[in-house]
Amino acid sequence: MSRTPPGWTWAYEGYDPAEERLRESLCTLGNGYFATRGALPECGADAVHSPGTYAAGCYNRLESQVAGRRVENEDLVNLPNWLPLRFRPGGEDTAGNSPTPWLSPDTHPPLDHRLTLDLRTGILERATRYVDDAGRHLAVRQLRLVHMGDPHLAALRTEFTAEDWSGPLEVESALDGAVANTGVARYRQLANRHLTHVHTGTAPSRDVVWLRCRTTTSDIRVGMAARTTTDGDTDTTTTHSPERACLLLRPLMEPGRTVTVDKCVALHTSRDPAISDPLHAAVDRVGRAPDFEALADAHRAAWEQLWRAGEMDVPGQAGRILRLHLFHLLQTLSPHTADLDVGVPARGLHGEAYRGHVFWDELFVLPYLNLHLPEVSRALLDYRHRRLERACFAARDAGRAGAMYPWQSGSDGREETQRLHLNPRSGRWLPDHSRLQHHVGSAIAYNVWQYGEATGDAEFMHTKGAEMLLQIARFWADAATWDKARGRYRILGVVGPDEYHDGYPGASRPGIDDNTYTNVTAAWVLARALDLLRSLPEPRRRDLFERTALADAELDIWQDVSRRLLVPWHRGIVSQFDGYGELAEFDWDRYRKAYGDIRRLDRILEAEGDTVNRYQASKQADVLMLGYLFAPAELRGLFRRLGHELDDTTWRRTVDYYLHRTSHGSTLSSLVHAWVLPRVRRAEAWRFCQEALTGDIADLQGGTTGEGIHLGAMAGTLDLVQRGLTGLEPRGGVLRLDPAPLPELSRFGLSIRYRGHWGVRLRLSAGQLHITVPASDRGPIDVALGDCTVSVPPGETCLLPLPQGADGLSMHTAYP
Ligand code: BGC
Repeated sequence: MSRTPPGWTWAYEGYDPAEERLRESLCTLGNGYFATRGALPECGADAVHSPGTYAAGCYNRLESQVAGRRVENEDLVNLPNWLPLRFRPGGEDTAGNSPTPWLSPDTHPPLDHRLTLDLRTGILERATRYVDDAGRHLAVRQLRLVHMGDPHLAALRTEFTAEDWSGPLEVESALDGAVANTGVARYRQLANRHLTHVHTGTAPSRDVVWLRCRTTTSDIRVGMAARTTTDGDTDTTTTHSPERACLLLRPLMEPGRTVTVDKCVALHTSRDPAISDPLHAAVDRVGRAPDFEALADAHRAAWEQLWRAGEMDVPGQAGRILRLHLFHLLQTLSPHTADLDVGVPARGLHGEAYRGHVFWDELFVLPYLNLHLPEVSRALLDYRHRRLERACFAARDAGRAGAMYPWQSGSDGREETQRLHLNPRSGRWLPDHSRLQHHVGSAIAYNVWQYGEATGDAEFMHTKGAEMLLQIARFWADAATWDKARGRYRILGVVGPDEYHDGYPGASRPGIDDNTYTNVTAAWVLARALDLLRSLPEPRRRDLFERTALADAELDIWQDVSRRLLVPWHRGIVSQFDGYGELAEFDWDRYRKAYGDIRRLDRILEAEGDTVNRYQASKQADVLMLGYLFAPAELRGLFRRLGHELDDTTWRRTVDYYLHRTSHGSTLSSLVHAWVLPRVRRAEAWRFCQEALTGDIADLQGGTTGEGIHLGAMAGTLDLVQRGLTGLEPRGGVLRLDPAPLPELSRFGLSIRYRGHWGVRLRLSAGQLHITVPASDRGPIDVALGDCTVSVPPGETCLLPLPQGADGLSMHTAYP
């Protein structure tokens, strides 16, 4: 095996309890089916360590009492822990303790400790040297993988070297079912035990132990089996307790000799297809699994293919971080995801924050996946389509037509947003109105449309895609109320992407009115739905109209609403919502001085007895999100359709205005600014790019990465290079480009999969763009850059000069 090149590893030196949770998140290994945090196998869950294994889509619902109210929450379940492997030199220690205590970095500070995550191979290596109470030195090297080829397998190899002693080493390899969802401190007052009926046992082949259990309310059955073997001379016994399946090995150690213990684990749940029962499937699979080396070879080969699909060549530290982001994206959403009924979990499969729920964050993920793993995008859209009926019920229950998708979605697509949330600063439980973020529906519609443009998958667009788009459009048309005095349609009582503003100061009802982002995207959805319906083959159009009782008169209303939705303005600025301009100005300097980090201004103000609703202060990009979704010309066109001129100066003024009024309390915020600014305020763009890149590795949101990665921001940075800086836009069968590279990021290459062409390579450098279309029997790709459109046949490379100013060095004007 060749050595991993520099820039492909992440290493952590020394043991630091305060950093442990962050490392566990960033060293999570997964394969789209399940993921396991990078916790140390000899440590259980406690104040320092937070081991966790999560299977995509495996949720359970529990009731709790908080603040005198009964609340219900659905969580991504922390499954039995397959990692446990603890060890201790046998015999007595100097204090006469027999047995000696298990070694752990918390009781026996390691002499050396190093964690190395190899992104190329998906293998996590840890090397630690312990000394026990009797002065015996033990070196431990571990290699861990969660198999990318066989999504039900994981493996842990441990090499023990007794440096200066001989005798038995006790090694306990276990499957632990006594786990709970305790990974997020804010949720600790809530019920957290999701597993019940835990049973353990030994398989006929004595080195395999098993554990089975089920979730308490969703009734998902889980089967896990572990095979533990060693090349050392050992006796082996099973020491199960009711919730822990254990195998105890006692290999004999000699000074300087290394003994290897291999643990191979299989996981199945009753959600899996083609199994009889999860326990049988797990025991059978682990019994048939090859040895560690063969497993690792197959795992590496699977990763090699994935890296080819996601090839991105960005120099320097930015490139290294982007690789880490792609690694975690692919561990959450891999080719295996294409066979699952799951959505995009906002925090990956890496932790318990946001309970594994699915938000609008897929808006930052699917456009990237469309151009690499379109079958995965399609599966993620299928997840939404399967829950379309539920979204229609939700709309009906709210007295609306069409589909009202939930702000937070889990197992069956009902609204999972918590009713109350805790402000950890004040200790108060507060009403949570974030469910009023109905703009999530537009995000789904946008993704449907983007998927269609990137893949040309007419079969999907004419069936499931059209059904979703139609019902989301219908919801918007119905949600819009005509205001005679203003001569405009209005959408009242919503929350925009900036979650800080969930009502007007002192108002009795929650929500704000005429959120520009909501209204402009609703207008876009209505316009695209009309386009799509127009383009449907006549028989299909007829079926759809009949099945959904859609009449031409309704389409006339859609037309009207899409042109006359209200967009509020104040002082020549596009307002975030009606009345934003009249709110008080916020004293940013004073609060920065007083608190330092003011990203979560909402919590600070609430703890002071004030409310962020009173101020012109936003959590994250809201109006500016429009510049993320739409290329400059399209946005201008959308505003024109709504009767407004959005020229370059107005947009620039609007960007400046919010730039000074945003606290960036979400990782998505810096990403969106990094996307928008290269075309408006290039000098400031790099700062936001850096912030977007370092959001998780430096844990910029103050401790949140330890509770799970921010998948939207991670995927978004990949897309920032892929589409943001290149202006790449698949539209109407043409690949359009409008590069706006930054001086700090002006030379890079990437490859995409586009409409049946695999591995189309784009390279931007020195004022030129190279496009190579790999040989195939497909037709040429039409590429448009500035005024120039070319057809690039398979097997050929085309070189296009970048328009003046788009070379990353001089000013680029996107709004002429
Ligand atoms: C952001 C939302 C996002 C959610 C999940 C929140 O902090 O404000 O926009 O969807 O996190 O990532």
